[in-house]
Amino acid sequence: MKSNPEKNNYCQSLLDRMTLEEKIGQMVQFNENWKLDFEKTIRAGGVGSLLTMRDPHNINKFQRIAVEESRLGIPLLIGNDVIHGYRTTFPIPLALAGTWDTQLVEEIARESMREAVACGTTWTFTPMVDISRDPRWGRIAESGGEDPYLNSQMARAWTRGIQSYHDANGRCAAACVKHYAAYGAAESGKDYNSVDMSERRLREEYLPPYRAAVEAGVKTVMTSFNDLNGTPATANKFLLQQVLRREWGFEGLVISDFDAIGELVHHGFARDLKEAALRSILAGVDIDMMGYAYPLHLADLVHEGKVPEALIDASVLRILGLKYDLGLFDHPYIDESAVHDTLLTPAALDLAEKAAAESIVLLKNEGDLLPLPHTPLKVALIGPMAEERASLLGCWYFNGHTDEVETLAEALEHNLPAGSTLIVEPGCSLGGNDLDLAAITAAASQADLVLLAIGEHFSLSGEAHSRAHLDLPGRQPELVRAVAASGKPVVGLLFTGRPLTIPELVDSVSALLLPYHGGNRAAQAVCDVLFGVVNPAAKLTTSFPRCEGQVPVYYAHKSTGRPIDSEGIIQFDEVNRSNYLDETNDPLFPFGFGLSYAKFEYSDLNLSSAAVKPDGTLTVSTQITNTGKVAGSEIAQLYIRDLAALVTRPVKQLKGYRKVTLQPGESCRVEFTLSPADLSFLDEEFQPIIEPGSMRVWIGPNSQEGLMGSFEIVA
Ligand code: NOJ
Repeated sequence: MKSNPEKNNYCQSLLDRMTLEEKIGQMVQFNENWKLDFEKTIRAGGVGSLLTMRDPHNINKFQRIAVEESRLGIPLLIGNDVIHGYRTTFPIPLALAGTWDTQLVEEIARESMREAVACGTTWTFTPMVDISRDPRWGRIAESGGEDPYLNSQMARAWTRGIQSYHDANGRCAAACVKHYAAYGAAESGKDYNSVDMSERRLREEYLPPYRAAVEAGVKTVMTSFNDLNGTPATANKFLLQQVLRREWGFEGLVISDFDAIGELVHHGFARDLKEAALRSILAGVDIDMMGYAYPLHLADLVHEGKVPEALIDASVLRILGLKYDLGLFDHPYIDESAVHDTLLTPAALDLAEKAAAESIVLLKNEGDLLPLPHTPLKVALIGPMAEERASLLGCWYFNGHTDEVETLAEALEHNLPAGSTLIVEPGCSLGGNDLDLAAITAAASQADLVLLAIGEHFSLSGEAHSRAHLDLPGRQPELVRAVAASGKPVVGLLFTGRPLTIPELVDSVSALLLPYHGGNRAAQAVCDVLFGVVNPAAKLTTSFPRCEGQVPVYYAHKSTGRPIDSEGIIQFDEVNRSNYLDETNDPLFPFGFGLSYAKFEYSDLNLSSAAVKPDGTLTVSTQITNTGKVAGSEIAQLYIRDLAALVTRPVKQLKGYRKVTLQPGESCRVEFTLSPADLSFLDEEFQPIIEPGSMRVWIGPNSQEGLMGSFEIVA
């Protein structure tokens, strides 16, 4: 990082004037639920940042107390969770990752910051880049899915988008990559649960996205709640000192998650809050989010000689430095009169519609039932999502208002071709025990086509919302059966925050769209896709399991000594392989899967050479032709496999992707370059190496299909 003498002098001269209590105040973050006198603490310099503040007027009020009534007038940071939008709500991050479109994600991040910064946010706790392979875990909705490469691309895009926004006064916000580290690997999918994993898996699969955010210049990092190999992440010197500071050279600030320092006591890692404060500060946590450990105990720990004051000074300089970088010393207040016009603008809503439509995955389209024709239709919209608003928004609709969301029924009213009729019948609730079979059958019998609007309530995903059962909640499976029994063509619309186990649903419908929880414009986006205004192109970023017992199911697994397609070992007259007796190994839908109304054919895989030197590059290309009747976009994916290596390698690893748009009959050649970095892996000392040997390469439409080639790495 470039040193800035003016900034350093400014922050140092402030630090020189601070008492120990004022310094520690900067290391404390709280919200209005704080149990001490809120305003008095701000006035006394006892707090450096606030959390979850939505009201611009209050933000200015508290900022005024800090700037005008505290001894040193240091402004507050205002931290908020702007996860998939502020007032304008975009699709959940899992859906956005399915666009594989980093430019779009960057634009959404910037647009979200435009609203958030205008309302006073100067720090957002985004991006969340935890690798998520367990759909039981509710926070999979907030993630980019199962793959390190794609999550790393998304981490960069979110970071760039958030931190590149500046308003006319230069006000801006810091991003915060979270939850460092491996939070998504919570054992048994239960939130906050322990993570025990090898250093190899951690470094190869779980750390790369956080590192990508650091390389993209993320200003802050949040520690995770989980313990990792016996040491809670919030006091983990390996993660915070060895990896983050020494190996990655991170110079920004580190904040704990919500009371995660206090939780060291529950982990059984600290005897009391004081020891928790000691272990976290010594590990390198600069700010205690919503905890009492730092405010109540840090000063005593310094007086007792257990914590060097130099450590506190280093943290405070990082915090003051961030406030300086964000321009808060010059522009601490927001213009409350400008707030209204900034929110929910037509441009933001258009972007929300584009994002929602582009993140819808077409999972099935038997007999090309979709897109629907532009002729009068008799449609029955059946299912609990038909008139739902909040669950279109998704798990982190921070400042969104449900009355600003159109329902699917409302959107269909003005999207159906003239002369159409629409029958609306919820049939059951999203999760309750109610079911009106007679009404469902009556609605279906009157229609030529059923749109089956089903899924999860938004509150079933997100923090502390894990599920052990991954089927459609409540009595929706019976609703699906009743609709299927009508014999009418059925288009399923699955609104969810996670992959669900839905083999029966897939069999019961002719076509299936996955709009996830798509935000403010989700309903219109679904209509855009239903009527072919938008041709779906999104691809899954998490595998869909067939049943809970397969979890975790992900494409980049290892081969094992007895892979499913091997001869196996014959023992007691049976062939022993790594598989289940009662289920296939395959997911219901693999990573990277998604259909289009166009049809894409891959042909003529070409490698620039049959051999590559460790410091060389290899070009791999293929022809893609749109053999369908409409224009469409395809996300072509590049995977590799190292067949024999010093350490076992995944059966496939994503190394690149490209989105191409083709007219009917049009072809193009898609080309990728494999670099030494793409071909390397970590040796026994976790240093990158490239080993001579045989490699495979695929270019294809998803992680299971594609054209395969081979090459050698030669010394
Ligand atoms: C706890 C969550 O784990 C984290 O993601 C969030 O940023 C903080 N709470 C602040 O709301």
